[in-house]
Amino acid sequence: MSAARHVAIIMDGNGRWAKARHLPRAVGHQRGVEAVRTLVRAARDMGLEALTLYAFSTENWRRPEEEVSALFALLKRYIQDDLQEFVDNNVRLKIIGDYKSLASDIVCLLEDALTRTAENNGTTLVVALNYGAQDEIARAAKIAATKGPITVAAIDAELDTASLPPVDLLIRTSGEMRLSNFLLWQVAYAEMWFTDVLWPDFTPDHLREGLNAFANRERRYGGR
Ligand code: FPP
Repeated sequence: MSAARHVAIIMDGNGRWAKARHLPRAVGHQRGVEAVRTLVRAARDMGLEALTLYAFSTENWRRPEEEVSALFALLKRYIQDDLQEFVDNNVRLKIIGDYKSLASDIVCLLEDALTRTAENNGTTLVVALNYGAQDEIARAAKIAATKGPITVAAIDAELDTASLPPVDLLIRTSGEMRLSNFLLWQVAYAEMWFTDVLWPDFTPDHLREGLNAFANRERRYGGR
């Protein structure tokens, strides 16, 4: 069994982490960003090709406005604070999802970060923002249809993830076992690993645990 190249994570449990400590949800998200920062550094050190993180879904707009603003403020600060580190450490940033319809200050910040890291060829940090897999597949199919017959390869080529290696391992934290409209097409043959750990408590050791579980599984891709 070869090592995983691309790990995708549904980061869940920030709210429960905060609630258990009688803290505001925003503090849970703040600690969630710390977990992201540590994990991205570890992924880079491990030589992982791609790490995709579900930061904001098309369904997350249903949350109270205060929480939505807090999430975007945290994301903005994270990119501002860590961009130079990405540049210096060969981390390439990629965004999937309909990020261009977000507030203009966020779009500008993201586009600058994308440009400044575009030539990096170490780990790709993929942030799913305003992302919904059904929306992504519909957008891809629409473009594919203008170019020729709709085939699996034609849709693959138009997905937001087109340039990335296939997702090998999907992780979801906090004990939930749902896909929540995340990478529905791309996880066709991915292994899944679930943990009860809440996202703010997720460490590089948990990632290693997931990768070890992956390494011990036999993937058959439908064959025998
Ligand atoms: C799930 O916790 C987490 C989210 C909806 C957002 C994840 C976002 C971050 C960790 C911060 C920003 C991201 C980056 C890449 C810097 P929840 O609120 O659904 O928790 P609960 O299910 O316990 O209520």
